[in-house]
Amino acid sequence: MKKKVLVTGGSGFIGSAITKYLVKCGYKVTVYDNNSRGKITRLKEIIHKINFKKGDIRDYKKLKSISGNFDIVIHLAYVNGTKFFYKKPFEILDIAVNGLLNILKFSKEKKVKNFFLASSSEVYQNPLKIPTDEEEMLKIPDIHNPRYSYGGGKIISELYGIHFSKKFLKKFIIFRPHNVYGADMGNEHVIPEFINRFKKLGNKKKFLIYGTGQEIRSFIHIDDFVSGFDKVFKKGKNQEIYNIGTNEKIKISRLAKLTAKILGKNIKFKKTKVLKGSPSVRCPNINKIKKLGFKQKIRLKDGIKKILK
Ligand SMILES: NC(=O)c1ccc[n+]([C@@H]2O[C@H](COP(=O)([O-])OP(=O)(O)OC[C@H]3O[C@@H](n4cnc5c(N)ncnc54)[C@H](O)[C@@H]3O)[C@@H](O)[C@H]2O)c1
Repeated sequence: MKKKVLVTGGSGFIGSAITKYLVKCGYKVTVYDNNSRGKITRLKEIIHKINFKKGDIRDYKKLKSISGNFDIVIHLAYVNGTKFFYKKPFEILDIAVNGLLNILKFSKEKKVKNFFLASSSEVYQNPLKIPTDEEEMLKIPDIHNPRYSYGGGKIISELYGIHFSKKFLKKFIIFRPHNVYGADMGNEHVIPEFINRFKKLGNKKKFLIYGTGQEIRSFIHIDDFVSGFDKVFKKGKNQEIYNIGTNEKIKISRLAKLTAKILGKNIKFKKTKVLKGSPSVRCPNINKIKKLGFKQKIRLKDGIKKILK
């Protein structure tokens, strides 16, 4: 019999890619998403093969109305996009805490055995070690800074999930995505945001970079992300944590130049203040998923061109 999987946040950018992957592998998939940022059109080519239920992860009655038991839960429902961390910290924490409690209670009642939790590179904040491995200390540097609602919510989720799972689950695995990019990801994220603004720039030369441009990030294309997730999904061990990302570091100013070059633009950059709490360098140590067989295939330059196709 086909194994049954519930994907929360499954019409989102990463969730829809994971859902397509699961359908391809032969799983019976149910997606639960309130479509606040998710789009059903992302699932159009597989919509006849899945069960889609619209609902808020904080609404236990709605969640519970999904019929049948499940073997696996992949929990992705969360508010993503840096600007939202500053704008709606309470909602982020509410979804993090009440959403997690609901999905864990649901998992217990529905006899779920394996649970995969999407965490984030934001749990490391400004890490002590670069590249940053999974043993790095997790931090909330300033309790008053709304940005940390996002990372703080992920830390609570990891902590609660780890101890809940020892009692009720066979396997509990955490994955920490690091700056995933791809087509149709939402314009709040740096790469699509650059592309859109470059396209609208016309003959003007001045281009605003948020921050000094010296901030460093490592981006992973969604197709590579799914292949990393595949390794964690199939070979990951109970109670383990896996970074999913690449070591291909790039300064944001260099990323802007690269994107401008690909789009044939000649630009002069104007910088602004760094958002309070934005880490200066983010680059994961990915030895752990490499040991499971992961290999980056899509270089950043090719990934940006892929988005533009
Ligand atoms: N994209 C990245 O680079 C990145 C990096 C680190 C961590 N993550 C994590 O990966 C997961 C997926 O991220 P994404 O980039 O696909 O973001 P996304 O915003 O595209 O997807 C999140 C999904 O959750 C849904 N959602 C939000 N609030 C909900 C609620 N209250 N009830 C039900 N559904 C709700 C949204 O509608 C959306 O479809 C998230 O947990 C995110 O924190 C992503």
